[in-house]
Amino acid sequence: TTARITIDRDFTIAEVPRRLFGSFVEHMGRCVYTGIYEPGHPQADSRGFRRDVLELVRELGPTVVRYPGGNFVSGYLWEDGVGPVEKRPRRLDGAWHTVETNAFGLHEFVEWAREADVEIMEAVNLGTRGVEEARALVEYANHPSGTYWSDLRRQNGAADPFDIKLWCLGNELDGPWQIGGKTAQEYGRLAQETAKAMRFVDPSIELVAVGSSNRQMPTFGTWEHTVLSHAYDEVDYVSMHAYYQEHDGDVASFLAEAVDMDAFIDGVVATIDAVKAAGKHTKQVNISFDEWNVWYQSGLDTDDQPHVITAAGQWREHPRLIEDTYNVTDAVVVGTFLNSLLRHGDRVKIANQAQLVNVIAPIRSEEGGPAWRQSIFWPFARVAQLARGRVLRLAIDSSHVSTKRYGDVDAIDAAATWDEENGTIALFLANRSLEEAGDLTVDLRGLGASSVRSAEVLTVPEDGDRKSANVADDQDRVGLVPLRDVDIVDGAVRATLPPLSWSV
Ligand code: AHR
Repeated sequence: TTARITIDRDFTIAEVPRRLFGSFVEHMGRCVYTGIYEPGHPQADSRGFRRDVLELVRELGPTVVRYPGGNFVSGYLWEDGVGPVEKRPRRLDGAWHTVETNAFGLHEFVEWAREADVEIMEAVNLGTRGVEEARALVEYANHPSGTYWSDLRRQNGAADPFDIKLWCLGNELDGPWQIGGKTAQEYGRLAQETAKAMRFVDPSIELVAVGSSNRQMPTFGTWEHTVLSHAYDEVDYVSMHAYYQEHDGDVASFLAEAVDMDAFIDGVVATIDAVKAAGKHTKQVNISFDEWNVWYQSGLDTDDQPHVITAAGQWREHPRLIEDTYNVTDAVVVGTFLNSLLRHGDRVKIANQAQLVNVIAPIRSEEGGPAWRQSIFWPFARVAQLARGRVLRLAIDSSHVSTKRYGDVDAIDAAATWDEENGTIALFLANRSLEEAGDLTVDLRGLGASSVRSAEVLTVPEDGDRKSANVADDQDRVGLVPLRDVDIVDGAVRATLPPLSWSV
């Protein structure tokens, strides 16, 4: 396998949207309870935040975290989660069939987000609720004082406004599984009116309209078109969600799923721009890809790993839900998804890997026990750390691998950023070939590299296979190791990428 990549300092896509490296904390399974929050854990601080988990979150480096759902938000009463903890009600959460204690709510999340140094992306309930509750929440969170809701916030211990800028107008309301799901017409009008009312309270907020729950939805395309036909002027982003998994051992197609992600994004961009043109709008709506990841959704209909909605939590508190264990292959695929997001940095401005801890997550933790990094932690952490400056437009000439689903695709998938201030180029590279190493040449036209600052690779461990993973009692089996022999020859970077690998 060979690949030649040409970079030119004048060919750039966009400033790196730093919000692309977002994550997601939902009240689902053990993401909040026994994930980020576990009073009584030996590592918990006085507020019950797990310090071991917080440390891993800081190392992972998400820039923005979406909260509190997800499907959960479509039945959530945000007022349940504020005020004295002992007075907070226990409720049935219909989305995941669990009992929500409300011990953790908005104030706790705001404090946790400060500790984690992340921006908050707050979702409002447009499943069972509407305009009034959403604008009340903006007033509670962002208005300084002197009104009912803002004074209640102060009474509950937060003198200063939370100043939350980024808001989701509901979640996956096109989905029949969603509590209070809607037609595109119903949702489009509701989103429009809710957005207006929220902005009357705080004109500085940014708003995300719900797009399709995935590309396979029968209403994909028409949903976005109808919703934006109503709400284009009132919103800033439309959301995308996508989850991928390996089907029937077809690993070649799985490794190529970023081809689908690219096409999905292009489709949403086209739909946004069609509405913009027809409506003679001047402002630009962009994309918030606010749920994406690898998620093994089939074959998990057991008590502890229930399929999406059906069996779910059996009305327990924080049951184990969809705690996928990620392997080497999954990490390489996640690397290609991050590349796809970067390549679309001119239109995708926010993205959130779903989720942050335990629930399809880069970080795992056990109740009363340890916390550790999954394989997918590594590509996320390095891209979040190093993708700075501008996204470069690459010319890639790569050998192909053949796949059932996507035909011939590039064996080497790549994205790159250039931080002029620091004088650094970051290259993110996946080798999709299972058998062949990739001989890589990167021609850095006009950028003249003088040294390699660092080079790392995640690949199959020597004594392992492509399904090797990190688990509680073997936490560092899969990780980054030095990528040897990266040279600069006549101003070009030369490297050899191991089969099935992700390199930086
Ligand atoms: O992230 C898990 C779930 O996937 C979210 O709650 C929902 O929005 C999506 O279907």
